[in-house]
Amino acid sequence: MVDREAFYRNVVHSLRNGVIAIWRDGSMAVVNDAAYRILGLDADPAHIGQSFHDVLGKDHDLADVLTRAFTDAELPNRAELRLRSSGKAIGYTVSRILDRDGAVSGAALLFKDLTRVEQLEERERLRDRLAALGEMAAAIAHEVKNPLASIQVMAGLLKRQLLDVPDARELLTDIIKEANMANRIVVDVLEFVRPISLEVDPVSIREVLDEAVTTARSHPAAGHTTIVTDCAANLPDLDADRLQLRQVFANLLVNALEALAGEGHIWITASYAAVERSPEPPDYAGYLTVDVTDDGPGVPVDVAHQLFSPFFTTKPSGSGLGLAIVRKIINAHDGRIEVGPRAEGGAKFSVRLPVPHRVTEAVAVADGNRTAGEIHV
Ligand SMILES: Nc1ncnc2c1ncn2[C@@H]1O[C@H](COP(=O)(O)OP(=O)(O)OP(=O)(O)O)[C@@H](O)[C@H]1O
Ligand SMILES: [Mg+2]
Repeated sequence: MVDREAFYRNVVHSLRNGVIAIWRDGSMAVVNDAAYRILGLDADPAHIGQSFHDVLGKDHDLADVLTRAFTDAELPNRAELRLRSSGKAIGYTVSRILDRDGAVSGAALLFKDLTRVEQLEERERLRDRLAALGEMAAAIAHEVKNPLASIQVMAGLLKRQLLDVPDARELLTDIIKEANMANRIVVDVLEFVRPISLEVDPVSIREVLDEAVTTARSHPAAGHTTIVTDCAANLPDLDADRLQLRQVFANLLVNALEALAGEGHIWITASYAAVERSPEPPDYAGYLTVDVTDDGPGVPVDVAHQLFSPFFTTKPSGSGLGLAIVRKIINAHDGRIEVGPRAEGGAKFSVRLPVPHRVTEAVAVADGNRTAGEIHV
């Protein structure tokens, strides 16, 4: 015989939306798995029959929505709120449950976690803003670049004509240096505001890191810094833009070299962690984490939140765009970057990049041996 009751129960519990239903007296009737997951609560059969206020605890905004199902004439069909417990954005709809006679016997709340949608919208808005800014910057850069090039050329010519006037030659050298710096800023601004487009291919993070280290080695600030790389052996390929990722790590390495001023260590570690399959997108197989750590002066706590803002710099000749570009590239790869202090002093930049499913299957059998290399620059 078909068990209709069980089928209805399974429908509710298999839904990807959160479902909470209460009886008219406020006792909990249904909480499905998605609801527990979105609310960050542990599933507990004892919740059924308890007051919904007690079960929802800190998320009393959601409890208010359920309460209003019995009092308000008009119920919201598609509304949003932010959970106090986790800050998640929730989209919900609430309905009264009527019995056969049309009497209200309870209320049901269907909800969905919109946090990711919100993040995507925010990113979209940022992209729009950057596109508008980009057009303006491109126009200004176009106007500024030509006079700058003329200054560089004319100062060079003048320098050659003033072979026996050392003071004037020195001044002209300074003028050329400043013009070069202004030119670099123009180029960096253009780079930053250019809408990002990724050329995505399977990419070995180990190779990207090797290339970034090679770039960093030739940097004037390299001095006697020691760079140590330590990559886990089971690193799956990423779906990423190789050149842009290289730029990310080259920028982080150059910052570390500049912070170290020629003496000290930089450690680069790369590891992989698989994650559980998620019914909600994005469903990634796992995340690669690359830490770039140095034993330099570190980042003062009060400026840590500003580091990724465009034009924030503490260097006399910095443009302050290095980390802003880094963050933009990481965001475009759906990744994350964080900065923190290294326990023993120094700075630690942690980059987390998602790995799609198909790629990891091939490496699932690889063992976890680590390989380490040490490069002195
Ligand atoms: N490893 C680090 N240790 C200490 N401070 C750092 C480190 N990396 C970055 N910073 C701080 O963050 C600021 C911003 O870095 P960012 O790369 O965006 O710009 P910049 O290095 O100053 O200039 P640019 O990269 O354009 O040459 C730096 O000026 C510095 O104060
Ligand atoms: Mg920099």
